[in-house]
Amino acid sequence: MQTTLGAPVAAYHLGFTSLDRELSVDALPVSGTLPPWLSGSLLRNGPARFEVGADRYHHWFDGLAMLHRFTVADGRVSYANRFLRSPAFVEAERLHRIAYAEFGTTPHRSPLGRVAALFRPATGDNANVNVVPYADGYLALTETPNPVAVDGVSLETRGVLHYDDAVAGQITTAHTHHDRSRRATFNILIELGRTCTYKVVRIEDGTLRRTVIAELAVDEAAYMHAFATTARYVIIAEYPLVVRPLDLLLQRKPFIENYRWVPGRGTRFHVFHKDGGAAAGSFEGDAFFAFHHINAFEEGDAIVLDIAAYDDARIIGDFALDRVRDPHSEVAWPAFRRFRLVPGHSAAEIESLAPQTIELPRVAGRHEATAYRYAYGVDTDGSCGIYNRLVKVDLTERSTVAWTAPRAYPGEPVFVARPGGSDEDDGVVLSVVLDAEAAASYLVVLDARDFTELARVHVPHHIPFGFHGTFSS
Ligand code: CO
Repeated sequence: MQTTLGAPVAAYHLGFTSLDRELSVDALPVSGTLPPWLSGSLLRNGPARFEVGADRYHHWFDGLAMLHRFTVADGRVSYANRFLRSPAFVEAERLHRIAYAEFGTTPHRSPLGRVAALFRPATGDNANVNVVPYADGYLALTETPNPVAVDGVSLETRGVLHYDDAVAGQITTAHTHHDRSRRATFNILIELGRTCTYKVVRIEDGTLRRTVIAELAVDEAAYMHAFATTARYVIIAEYPLVVRPLDLLLQRKPFIENYRWVPGRGTRFHVFHKDGGAAAGSFEGDAFFAFHHINAFEEGDAIVLDIAAYDDARIIGDFALDRVRDPHSEVAWPAFRRFRLVPGHSAAEIESLAPQTIELPRVAGRHEATAYRYAYGVDTDGSCGIYNRLVKVDLTERSTVAWTAPRAYPGEPVFVARPGGSDEDDGVVLSVVLDAEAAASYLVVLDARDFTELARVHVPHHIPFGFHGTFSS
């Protein structure tokens, strides 16, 4: 718990420490036994460099994006990791300073540079939040609109993609929802201006053209990291963390610091039809904040929304790097909260499902946007300021099983279904775990049914705590 300098650091500080090394390894050491049916690639995204020259990023969400690939084939697991060659990364390498604004960091600029930035706001496309399949590769995503294409094997950056449309908007979510039956992806885009507009956009598979299917004008725009979909609807949960658009455009403060917590606004839920985009109702609830929707589905005429809900937006400041690296600080924890939107009732009904905290929630792919029983995520056993357990929440039994290991700090669990399996939890859960003792990370493979540990795949370095990933077979 001590550095050589004598300053106390959190046991998990390596998770918030840069990784510079890029590797490609044919076979990582495996302990335990991988299921013989498991075959495919887990891609993960997250920040991996937190300083550039003498400049430092201030927030966990700011670090330069790195992709990691674990490929299971023929009983072996290959691995590669590579920085995303975004404009933010390329300019950082060239200038040895932070060149672009991020979520919680503003680059140093001369007064003239600030004026230039106002008229030509530049984004570094540091897409460090999510990674999703696209064409024969993947897209790295963040909350500025342009995705960055990467090769799915080498992880080489193919380039920033620009949409083939004229849809205006400066902020989006990295949590796109793909709809298999409609062969389209849905997302939310926010246009800042004299008024602000939330736009529900639809992108047909195989294209880069966004069609705006619904719009909602607001005076102040909320910060929204994600949204929800069901079979027929898109649902925006609008938390009372809002910004005056001019404050953002002037860029006097880092992006997120322009947002204000206004609990008197409460939380508003806006529902739109996926087909045609017609408004299907607005609902109100008490103020809360969330990054992640756990899942959503329809129950008769009602919409059920499960959300990892924080009482307020304090968590954003909790993830500042100097805070998360401090062993005495603890992050706020979100509750597993269920909201029911019932036609004819303007108030969202709330049900607290369990005294269960959950973050980085995932559900089985084929249960996304539909009725489901199990959610997977991370939480804490209370002994630690950051996530130190993997959890599986059973919404039928209202019970939880957890996986822990000494000085182990897991990330987002990704469920992989066993081919031919029919039970919702017939498969494995994959999570990248920081082993603070070994000062390295491993991929843990759990039996999703009972959370028995099946295998560990050992990585020769630490992987900084990341956000989201995807498994493709
Ligand atoms: Co997220």
